[in-house]
Amino acid sequence: MLKKMVNRFLKGALLVLAIAVSAPVLAGDIFNGRTLYNDNCKGCHGVSGKGDDFGVPAFSEGSLPTAMDTDIVPIIENGQGIMPAFMGLLTDQEILDVISYIRTMDE
Ligand code: HEC
Repeated sequence: MLKKMVNRFLKGALLVLAIAVSAPVLAGDIFNGRTLYNDNCKGCHGVSGKGDDFGVPAFSEGSLPTAMDTDIVPIIENGQGIMPAFMGLLTDQEILDVISYIRTMDE
């Protein structure tokens, strides 16, 4: 009886641990995203994501606010208009990191 309870508790604890450990890998890392954004995107999209005078739209006026990450990833991988493709330059995880970061911008 007691052994069963201990076993159950251990299984539960393991599950919680597994989720805690895997979560940062699944979700984008905003801090890493900021570094990547500053290095790769800021020149066109601006410090606060509101674009610049050269026809770069503000994130808030485009599809970003309503789009899923799975819709945004291909835009960054393949480029769009004058935006270059980042496939091969950024890993899948880095692209998710940068998306997490630009989602924190409100302009
Ligand atoms: C050379 C300038 C340039 C660079 C560098 C650049 N972008 Fe862009 N980006 C653009 C332009 C211009 C558009 C609008 C493209 C269009 O629809 O014609 C755009 C569009 C986007 C969109 C889609 C916006 C929407 O609402 O549809 C996202 C998301 C985006 N860029 C993210 C990024 C990220 C993240 C980076 C860095 C990894 C980056 N861009 C680097 C110029 C750039």
